[in-house]
Amino acid sequence: MTSTTPPEFGAPLPAAHPSEETLKLLRLRRSTAADLLTGPGPNATELQSILSIASRVPDHRRVCPFRFIVFEGEGRAKAGEILARIFASNETETTPERVQCERARFMRAPVVVAVVSAVDRTHRTPEWEQTMTAGAVCQNMLLAASAHGYAAQWLTEWYAYDHAVLEAFGLKPGEKIAGFIYIGAAKEPPLERQRPELQAIITRFGEAG
Ligand SMILES: Cc1cc2nc3c(=O)[nH]c(=O)nc-3n(C[C@H](O)[C@H](O)[C@H](O)COP(=O)(O)O)c2cc1C
Repeated sequence: MTSTTPPEFGAPLPAAHPSEETLKLLRLRRSTAADLLTGPGPNATELQSILSIASRVPDHRRVCPFRFIVFEGEGRAKAGEILARIFASNETETTPERVQCERARFMRAPVVVAVVSAVDRTHRTPEWEQTMTAGAVCQNMLLAASAHGYAAQWLTEWYAYDHAVLEAFGLKPGEKIAGFIYIGAAKEPPLERQRPELQAIITRFGEAG
């Protein structure tokens, strides 16, 4: 097994991976707004690695409540046509410029991956847990993209919630978009944003308040 091939089922694995580089990535990772993305994006081998890493998430009872739809090349233009058509029929008062903006959405990055939340409602693993697993997939994908040298952003925007769009993208009834992960190169480096005040979100159980 090389370090890039996924381990075989049952292979012994290290329980921890002390790594200053990983800590640095986790401390400094920052989304790059899709409008500030450009090419190049991951090649086929890199994308395979990113998707493989993204799929290695905690998943209670191994339901695999997620799947991927990759938008690259022509697929992005076709997706944009779908957005433009549906946006124009939803918003009858809109302008041609606004419709063109929708047509161009998927062109903002060379690769866009839809993470589809595919909850099995008949399964005894609670729906909430299956939903969280799909969220973990999105975060893993951001980290994997970053470690491969790409900038990325996790977006939903209006089209993640539009039934006509979801149907045109091939989602089955009950499936939802956990996120569209836009992946590419940053036109300019992002700036740190405000982060939660740690003291405000940590309590210690059992200590006098
Ligand atoms: C489920 C989900 C959906 C999001 N959708 C949008 C969106 O539609 N538009 C947007 O500007 N940011 C959206 N964001 C926020 C960005 O992805 C990103 O988290 C934010 O810009 C903060 O950047 P950071 O990742 O560097 O902390 C979404 C985040 C999550 C978790």
